Amino acid sequence: MIRSVVQGCGSYLPERLVTNDELAKTMDTSDEWIQQRTGIKQRHIAADGEFTSHLAIKAAERALAHAGISGADLDLIVLATATPDETFPATATVVQKALGMTKGAAFDLQAVCAGFVYGVSVADSMIKNGLAGTALVIGAETFSRILDWNDRGTCVLFGDGAGAIVLKGEQGNGTSADRGILANALHSDGRQHDILYVDGGPSSTRTTGFLRMEGKEVFKHAVVNMAAVVGEVLAKAGLEAKDIDWLVPHQANKRIIDSTGRKLGLPPEKVVVTVDRHANTSAASIPLALDAAVKDGRIKKGDLALLEGIGGGLAWGASLIRW
Ligand code: UT7
Repeated sequence: MIRSVVQGCGSYLPERLVTNDELAKTMDTSDEWIQQRTGIKQRHIAADGEFTSHLAIKAAERALAHAGISGADLDLIVLATATPDETFPATATVVQKALGMTKGAAFDLQAVCAGFVYGVSVADSMIKNGLAGTALVIGAETFSRILDWNDRGTCVLFGDGAGAIVLKGEQGNGTSADRGILANALHSDGRQHDILYVDGGPSSTRTTGFLRMEGKEVFKHAVVNMAAVVGEVLAKAGLEAKDIDWLVPHQANKRIIDSTGRKLGLPPEKVVVTVDRHANTSAASIPLALDAAVKDGRIKKGDLALLEGIGGGLAWGASLIRW
């Protein structure tokens, strides 16, 4: 049985750091409110002229270096983003050129905050079906560009960044002891469109639009759907919550993360949290958290990592990876 095995990971954050106190100077908010409600202390914001592709390329270069391969070795790039450089072509093709990859396919995938889990699932399926051998899955966003900086209920929650992993098809035994992606689960529910969306786009308003969110409603769905999808992916792999070494959740809100960890019966030290440092970076949040925990020595070869995320759509999903 072919398994998609992680060869390396990397991430990149824009230089500019914006603290809650800095935001409180220009809007009616406070460090206390933001930390209490979300756990966020700071976020990174892309500079003028710094695009999603620039962040993605830096994260990709680090992931390739960590994997010990070059762009020419890739035959697939899946870039999860809701903030592409341009309406078309896919930002993934900009990354492809920068990495010196001249064969295979590169495309963008749009599932907002669930984008990275969707990207991992799609790349895994393509590797298993023989459509790709070595794939780069990137989550990269410049959400600062689609925030309404007059809406304190949303603009304090998000940040910019990128993260990436390299996957390669390798022969496995078909057991849960194999290294690689063991199971994926994806869902969406278009009936929930109105609780999290961007009020613009090329076909509707011909503008980029701004992010709009009913935070409390999204929160309720997140808590319920995350608990369900992590159970689903564990069952698919024939594993139990006690087998998980690391929960690597989408980083939207510390209270949602804590709730999922509690329901799985995991001690807090097994839950990777970066929302305090990065805020919500949408599709980039899971690979940013993964890279932090791999590079500081927490996630090691053979460990079982459970990735999960939910965002606009609503769209949500989970992936179970033996690192
Ligand atoms: O990544 C995609 C998935 N997204 C999520 O998972 C987000 C899920 N939702 C959340 O994380 C939370 O709902 C929020 C953090 C967005 C909001 O927390 P909340 O506890 O649901 O607060 P709320 O929206 O009900 O607002 C409570 C109060 C309101 O004031 P009143 O009406 O009670 O007087 C808001 O006006 O807090 C006020 N408020 C703020 N105050 C200071 C809203 N934003 C701010 C702010 N600073 N930035």
